[in-house]
This record gives sequence, structure tokens and C-alpha cells, in this order.
Amino acid sequence: MGYVIRAAQLLTMPQDVAQLSQYGDGGEERDDAIVGLIEDGCVLVEDETIAWVGPWSERPKAARGEAVDVFETAVAMPGWIDCHTHAVFAGERSQEFAWRNAGKPYVEVLEEGGGILTTVEAVRQASSQELTDTLVRRAFLSVRQGVTTLEVKSGYGLTTADEIKCLKAVQRAQKEVPCELVGCFLGAHAVPAEYRDRREAYVDLVCEEMIPKVAKGGYAAYCDVFCDRGAFSAEEAERILKCGQEYGLVARIHADEITDAGGAMVAAKVGASSADHLEFVNPEGIEAMAAAGVVGVLMPAVNLFLGTLDHLAPARALLNAGCEVALATDFNPGSAMTQDLGTILMLGCTLYKLTPGEALRSITAGAAKALRRTDIGGLRAGARADVACFDVPHYRYLTYHFGQIHTEAVIYRGNFVYWTEEADVEE
Ligand code: NIG
Ligand code: FE
Repeated sequence: MGYVIRAAQLLTMPQDVAQLSQYGDGGEERDDAIVGLIEDGCVLVEDETIAWVGPWSERPKAARGEAVDVFETAVAMPGWIDCHTHAVFAGERSQEFAWRNAGKPYVEVLEEGGGILTTVEAVRQASSQELTDTLVRRAFLSVRQGVTTLEVKSGYGLTTADEIKCLKAVQRAQKEVPCELVGCFLGAHAVPAEYRDRREAYVDLVCEEMIPKVAKGGYAAYCDVFCDRGAFSAEEAERILKCGQEYGLVARIHADEITDAGGAMVAAKVGASSADHLEFVNPEGIEAMAAAGVVGVLMPAVNLFLGTLDHLAPARALLNAGCEVALATDFNPGSAMTQDLGTILMLGCTLYKLTPGEALRSITAGAAKALRRTDIGGLRAGARADVACFDVPHYRYLTYHFGQIHTEAVIYRGNFVYWTEEADVEE
């Protein structure tokens, strides 16, 4: 028999396009609509799946009666999805952080052979076990916030063996953590030092050796490229992403973060699921993304952390063009040393002027779309029973009271995987 979650406010996060087309006209009623608010709502969970969602007063027979366990909470919504992280890394780069604050730009450190390549050295030295253990610890921290799906990119190995070592660490960690880890291959994160003067040969290696091995070994279902100054050109990115697609990998791209490098156009051209960053995207790129259904993944912690608040991704223009937007942490040691998706919600509102509803949609429905997933990111019958429950006065409060964990319980595949003392959960 299943159990029931009763929430004073239940956010279902509907997927249909009719809801999305309302983006941009403001107001609390519209926000309530786009989050699919049900006051005094009920979720019936059976095994790993949601069996029914609706108002408490209309719950079906299976959700009634003395024998049914009821978990009561203030706000319940789909488990959060952090759809863009680089969480499998070793070492740290606080020295670079200080250099940057003293005036040295991120891209200069990268071009001089530091930045990403500093972490590459640390990762190459690290054992698979070490990488697994740190990722496990990090995943638990995300779960405490309400995250039930965590995307994790490779990209700090940059040899076939080291890239696979990182993706294997993701798979090994998966066995130990109460959330889903989604591996993403990012062999084209930077040109490694040993290929500095023969970058084409590195792109060949990515296409001819890494992608086939990653795809055939089942190490990842996505292929990403860092397309920007200091990393890979639009032409290189297109070649790599198309090659990944030939092997069945869904394309994603780090696009137009530091310069207008044409990344959004590449995303549209190849039919990527998402284009991520987008601080320097141009209007044609936005239009092309909207036409191709590419999700814009925005990561405001990067601007805060790099001190580049003068160049923010055009969130409103993306929404108005008809793109779905997702917010993510971009957790990595160089440009966003944080796993705090709650604070990202607040930044989405203050920096991008998202409404609370848009921000909350972006880490559930939007993030699911960025991963091309329909089984997560929304509360509906048949979806995976991933639910985040919060002890807050109302849902908007989640975007307002930042830097604090508000979770009362986290449910992953129907199981309570985290709860506070206040939550009345029977073990
Ligand atoms: O998403 N932009 C490229 N990659 C990361 C940064 C990685 C790093 O600096 O280690 C990002 O910002
Ligand atoms: Fe990134």
C-alpha cells in the first residue's frame, strides 16, 4: 500500500505549452498558474511512482481511510533538479579566486594554462575511489536542500582514461547516494596542455576515441562542449556535438559565457537540449534557440563569483522569445564554488528579475526539459515520486529567504531520504 502527502500548498509544475506562453505578464495569479498551485493538495505515492495528484478533498479511495499513512507538510513540489554541475573534481582554486579579485580575468588564467587545467592536474592524480567519495559527500549536501536529480559533468580528465575515470566515479557514487546522478561527457572542456599546439588532434581524439568509448560503455547519455574564447570554437563544437549525436548522445553546450562565440547558434543548429550560460548571447541566437526548442540554462552564481555582474544572461528576453529557462548552480572549483541551489533561486529573482514562480519552475520543469526528461520535474500521475517538502509559510518564501535550508523532508523514488526532527516520519 502507498502513502499520502498532504500539503497546504502543492506545486505540480505543469508541462503544457499553454502555461508557458503566459510568461512575461507578471502577477501572483499567473505565478500560481505556472507552478500549478493546488491549495490543500494531495499526492498519492505508490512504490516509486506518483499514483494520483489533486485537491485533498477529491482524493481517491486509495488515499482515504485510517490505514493510509499521511505525511503533512506546508509546501510540496517536485524534487529539485540541479541540471548543470561539474561536481566530480579534486582540489580547489581559492588562489585563483584571490587573483581574480585583484584584477586578473578568468579567461586570462585559463589561456595561461591555469584555471580548468589546474583542476585537470588534480583530477589526473586522484584515484577513482577519492573522486567517488567526494562526489558522494557532495550529493548528500544537495539532497538536504531538496535536490533529487544532480547532473554531473566530466571534463577535468581530458584523456580518454581520465574522462572515463570521472564518469565511472559518477556511476560508483550513484550506488551510495539517495538521488539520481546524471553523467554528462565534457571531454571538450579545455584543450589539455599536451595538445596546446595541436588542438585539432585533440578534437580528433574527442571525436574518434572518447565519444565512441563513452557511448559504447554507457558512461554518459549527454555530450557537452565549452564553446568560448580560450576553449573551443563554434566549428569545433559543432563537429564534436554532431559526432556525439551519431553515437546517441544528447547535445548540450556551454555557450557564450565569456564572449559571443556563436554557441547558441550551434545549439539551435544541432538541436541541443540546452545552451548553458548565455551571458553574451545575441538576439539571433535567442531566436534560433526558441525556434529549435533549446532550453536556456542560466547560472547566476558564476557572475557573482567571477565578479561579472555587468554582463548577465538575458533571462527575460529568452522567456519572451518562448524559450524554457532553467537555473542551475554550475558547481565547480573555478567559476561557481557553490552547491546552494536555494541561493540560486534568490539570484534568479534579483539578477534576472524572474518571478518566484518562474524561478521555482526553472529548477523543476525547466531543468527536466534541459535534460530531456519527462519522468521528473513535475508532480503528475506516472511521474517518479521525487518530492521536496518545505517548512515555509508559502512557496514564494523559498526564493526570498536564502542561504538557509528549508527542507522538512525529501522523497526520492517514493522513499523518505532526508527529513528533519519536526517531520513526523515513521522509520
Ligand atoms: O561552467 N565554463 C566552463 N566550465 C566551467 C568552469 C570550470 C572551471 O573553471 O573549472 C563553467 O563555468
Ligand atoms: Fe559549467
